[in-house]
Amino acid sequence: MLHISLLGEQAITDDQIGIIRTGSARAIALVALLVAHAGRPQSRQHIAGLFWPDSTDAQSLTNLRRELHHLRRALGPEASLVVTSKDLCWRDTETCRVDVRVFASERDAALLAAGRDDGAAVVAHAAAAVSQYRGDLLPGTYDDWLLDARSRIESRCVELCDLLCKTMVQMGDVAGALDAAKRRVVLRPLEEVGYRTLMQLQADLGDRAAAVSTYHHCASVLERALGLEPDQATRTALQRVLARPTTETRARLRVEPASRSGVAAAKLIGRSDEFGSLRALWHNAAAGNPSLVLVGGDPGVGKTRLVGELAALAKLQGAVVASTQCFGSSRRLALSAVADWLRDPAVQSSTATLDPVWRVEVDRLVPTAQRGGSSEVGSRAMVDAWQRHRFFEGMARALIHVRRPMLLVLDNVQWCDQETLAFLTFCLGLTLDTPIMVAGTLRTDTLDHEPGLVDWIATMRASGTLTEIPLLPLEVADTTRLAQAISGRSLRTAEADSLQAMTGGFPLYVVETARTAVDAGMRSRRPAIWGPSSAIGWSRCPR
Ligand SMILES: Nc1ncnc2c1ncn2[C@@H]1O[C@H](COP(=O)(O)OP(=O)(O)OP(=O)(O)O)[C@@H](O)[C@H]1O
Ligand SMILES: [Mg+2]
Repeated sequence: MLHISLLGEQAITDDQIGIIRTGSARAIALVALLVAHAGRPQSRQHIAGLFWPDSTDAQSLTNLRRELHHLRRALGPEASLVVTSKDLCWRDTETCRVDVRVFASERDAALLAAGRDDGAAVVAHAAAAVSQYRGDLLPGTYDDWLLDARSRIESRCVELCDLLCKTMVQMGDVAGALDAAKRRVVLRPLEEVGYRTLMQLQADLGDRAAAVSTYHHCASVLERALGLEPDQATRTALQRVLARPTTETRARLRVEPASRSGVAAAKLIGRSDEFGSLRALWHNAAAGNPSLVLVGGDPGVGKTRLVGELAALAKLQGAVVASTQCFGSSRRLALSAVADWLRDPAVQSSTATLDPVWRVEVDRLVPTAQRGGSSEVGSRAMVDAWQRHRFFEGMARALIHVRRPMLLVLDNVQWCDQETLAFLTFCLGLTLDTPIMVAGTLRTDTLDHEPGLVDWIATMRASGTLTEIPLLPLEVADTTRLAQAISGRSLRTAEADSLQAMTGGFPLYVVETARTAVDAGMRSRRPAIWGPSSAIGWSRCPR
């Protein structure tokens, strides 16, 4: 049996012999094109024109013959590829499974089941379809014909997540619906409706802290990507969550009002071991031993904050610090993180003196007015392997050329695109004596959904480049210190224990709870300057 993966990864695998090399990314792209029109023959002329729009007819047809040759060798006796002198066609067979085709047939079955109100069948088929969607269709390829197909299948996956979520709620499986809602948020990180659904489900499950965390995640994504705040409907959803009576009403805590200035003022609490390890790694990297470090843990445990502290330290020491963060899959552009690093002013100014041979490659991704590049060139240039290698080398050389200790921060590696990961592998392999460190944050709770990332981590681990720093929730003493720093008052032992139990020691919830308490205290003081202190319920974090 042959397995062809076009979603999130590109591979042809034989049950007997393992991965088959096609020799060319174009050959896989050819499969994608034919599979997108399965059962309908595509003329050679048409395909050649789509794939090589800048070549003459004769040349493009020759190119197509070459790719077809690669592909037929890779597929062997498999009968899915039907070749005539005029056209090519893909047909489904029992001996070859293509993820895109499985996705399509499971989706059809799910929609049919929805038509006859068969909830169990909807869930089975929709879940099977969604599980095939391991990422964008042919990530890293940017041909015009592909963009429509990629966005169509991604939209269908989002619709299936919605269908799955709705059906599971109707069937009383809120926990299952939660997974579908999370998947949707990852696919469409800029659509607030997804966050609202997720918050609702988390609140329904009694996990109010998670719902609040979802709201803050939404706010931070929108702020950074679009410079916008969540809209009114999302803010109202948060209010509804906060207003819900907690299931643990006995867990009520009184916090005295404090000045608002305390809220932002909390310095890093605890984390001395983890920060010590990070600092040591940084000093080693700055001395010319490139490294990659991943700070991993559950959402809200303080990963970004810890890496942020390292960035501040490195800046103080005069290093170049270029930071970027990744967002969920659908809107993420390949290599956008690398583009952000290359746009750092220090990197830009050193790139200006880079050998023009490599500067051209940088221009493909980050064109500048002075250098007059075009971003379209960049997308096309990545298609073939040798071009990609050269492109990566140009960008890596631009970073090396900075010749100063450099910290590259990559927040939310769990949403990083495969191209950026591939670039990092390449770059860290090339930068042998360069004082460079890549520091990433990684949510480890959803790694199961990211097989490509898991493989990459294993590769980096095996290469000896990677150091992993796991972050656990704060112990009660640090939780207390954090709440005290924000609320500006000391907590009694019983309050501290209760706070620890309710927030699980996750700084995000500690900060949020303390802020809510401070705000409630401030509100309750109006119009009097010091009114009675406010009481708030501190919801438990059921992790
Ligand atoms: N050790 C700490 N001392 C003080 N504040 C902290 C600490 N750790 C985290 N915080 C604060 O807690 C909040 C959440 O932390 P942070 O954003 O770093 O979590 P995260 O693990 O990156 O979450 P996510 O997975 O959602 O990205 C932030 O306001 C941060 O400043
Ligand atoms: Mg973070």
